[in-house]
Amino acid sequence: MMTIKTQVDLKQVNQQLQAFATVVNGNHPIREVTADEQLRVGVDLGTSSIVLTVLDEQNQPLYGAFEYDNAVRDGIVVNFIESVQILKRLKQKAEDVLGVTLTTACGAVPPGTGHGSAKIVTNVIESAEFECREIVDEPTAAAQFLHMQDGTVVDIGGGTTGISVFEHGHLNEVLDEATGGFHMTLVLAGYHHVDSAEAELMKRDESKEGEVFAVIRPVVEKMAMITKTAVTTEVKQPVIVVGGAINFKQFIPTFSKTLTLPAYKPDFPQFVTPLGIAMYDHEPE
Ligand SMILES: Nc1ncnc2c1ncn2[C@@H]1O[C@H](COP(=O)(O)OP(=O)(O)OP(=O)(O)O)[C@@H](O)[C@H]1O
Ligand SMILES: [Mg+2]
Repeated sequence: MMTIKTQVDLKQVNQQLQAFATVVNGNHPIREVTADEQLRVGVDLGTSSIVLTVLDEQNQPLYGAFEYDNAVRDGIVVNFIESVQILKRLKQKAEDVLGVTLTTACGAVPPGTGHGSAKIVTNVIESAEFECREIVDEPTAAAQFLHMQDGTVVDIGGGTTGISVFEHGHLNEVLDEATGGFHMTLVLAGYHHVDSAEAELMKRDESKEGEVFAVIRPVVEKMAMITKTAVTTEVKQPVIVVGGAINFKQFIPTFSKTLTLPAYKPDFPQFVTPLGIAMYDHEPE
């Protein structure tokens, strides 16, 4: 394990992520739960998938389920009914596996998308028969899961790059740019003259990774430039990058080089934000 200049314990975070990844969409939770436990539920309505996460009161992951969908675009719910249907199925699946009813949940929106989008996410969660406790911003939820006091979280999903900078546990700055994994797919589709569905499959094909990355490298460099220039204060270290779009071996070296700072990727980076969202689902302190 490399030593990093950070209080973020990536080793511990990776253990949680690995354990979570083994149960996602499966038929067993990480451990059995009792009926009197207060479970914490996170709902991430993403551009590429809807993810439901369940934690215990100690914020330990228990179970998760997701479905790919296109009901959300650039962080905004564009197909309300479909989002609700998917979330209801995920809730049912989690309840069947855990053997308990899930009653409360928290959701998230990309930073700066305003009150309207938070309201829609609340409505989706409530229509799936949860009591919605809070809507948080996505990169801040990721920072929560990473226990980050000082540093920068960059969350690169399907549609957006969200950046939040923390100092002494305080959120200094949070911003969002509309460049994500889907832009990599579009560049790949243009290069190979194929449609985006085919390009998406090609992008995720590990055996083609070297060839794919050579084409999408400029998009990764752009993401690093966004991070470098859009932050008005200072990109605080450590820089931890999360989100599904970073699932390439060469992502971090390329991103770091343009950013001119070291950057770190947790295992299963697509689950960091959804797990962080669930950590807010508790009684007010
Ligand atoms: N193995 C992989 N290799 C490359 N890209 C991947 C891989 N798996 C997922 N992705 C990409 O990650 C992106 C989805 O990431 P994530 O699940 O974090 O997004 P999201 O939360 O749904 O979107 P957003 O946060 O932008 O609303 C998609 O563009 C997808 O193509
Ligand atoms: Mg996301």
